[in-house]
Amino acid sequence: MKRATSPWQTLPKVELHLHLDCSMSYRVASQLAPELDETTYRRTFIAPTRCRDLAEFLACTDTPLALLQSTRALTLTTEDLIRQLAEEGVVYGEIRFAPLLHLREGLAPEAVVEAVEAAAAKAMAETGVEVRLLLCTLRHFDSAQSLETARLVDRYREGLVAGLDLASDEAGFPLDAHRAAFAYVRDRGLPRTAHAGEARGPESVRETLRDLQPSRIGHGVRSIEDPDLVAELAETGVHLEVCPSSNVQIGVVPSYDSHPIHRLAQAGVSVGVNTDSRALNGLTLVEEYDRLASVFGWGEARFRAANRAALKASFVPEEVRARVRARLG
Ligand code: ADE
Ligand code: ZN
Repeated sequence: MKRATSPWQTLPKVELHLHLDCSMSYRVASQLAPELDETTYRRTFIAPTRCRDLAEFLACTDTPLALLQSTRALTLTTEDLIRQLAEEGVVYGEIRFAPLLHLREGLAPEAVVEAVEAAAAKAMAETGVEVRLLLCTLRHFDSAQSLETARLVDRYREGLVAGLDLASDEAGFPLDAHRAAFAYVRDRGLPRTAHAGEARGPESVRETLRDLQPSRIGHGVRSIEDPDLVAELAETGVHLEVCPSSNVQIGVVPSYDSHPIHRLAQAGVSVGVNTDSRALNGLTLVEEYDRLASVFGWGEARFRAANRAALKASFVPEEVRARVRARLG
């Protein structure tokens, strides 16, 4: 049976929070591993609909990461993801990945960044989607690895690399190893975001804002537990890259209808709508819009406001932002 087309399919969208290594489609996975059947793909590349916690969810990145160790795999996955963005009406997307996770078969970190960058440039030209890349340091990295990732952001700043992110297990590892990396990019005027307020509560958001000084927070949804923090976010304009379905899947919130995105938006916090990933989360951005429309009654005005807020928080120079803004309508 053909699925009905969503009314949100053609709405021009901005997606700032999207992991490359968690977004390998069956089409690409089966090119890289021809013996892979679709049932096995679904079992191993898509995380359970309800995970015990973030750690269980993150363990599902093992299989795609094992394949993402060559220029070919990085190229195919990046091009395919940008084509998916185009099909879903995304006009501006930021794609993030951790270069140091792709070195197992001998690629140098620079070769990883250059492969993703070249594939992104090609797919941008082909689809018209404007794309930038964020490099992730990970909570469990040591300070040398974190600083190495920060140096890569600086090295590739003239190309498509637009900023630094801190991802992975917020509950399992402190910020200590990442302060120097964030100071390094901050001193060079480079943009920063960091995952927080997902596996831990408002104290983690506060600590991340204080110590890393990012202009955006990945998720940040547990800020809702602290009204003073919500007021502070609204006042300072820190943007939250919200991924509602991902939060339900990981158990950050018990159900979609209890998700705080609507309350955060009503409190004046800058919020955007994102998937977190296409494969691991088993969803498209259009489906995320459908859910927000049916659960919270979000309509065109809300979605346009969220996309404008996300674009304002994007890591691009003003002339690019103005070009994308014209496409948002
Ligand atoms: N890496 C991929 N998905 C993630 C998430 N939801 N939180 C932290 N790190 C991630
Ligand atoms: Zn994420």
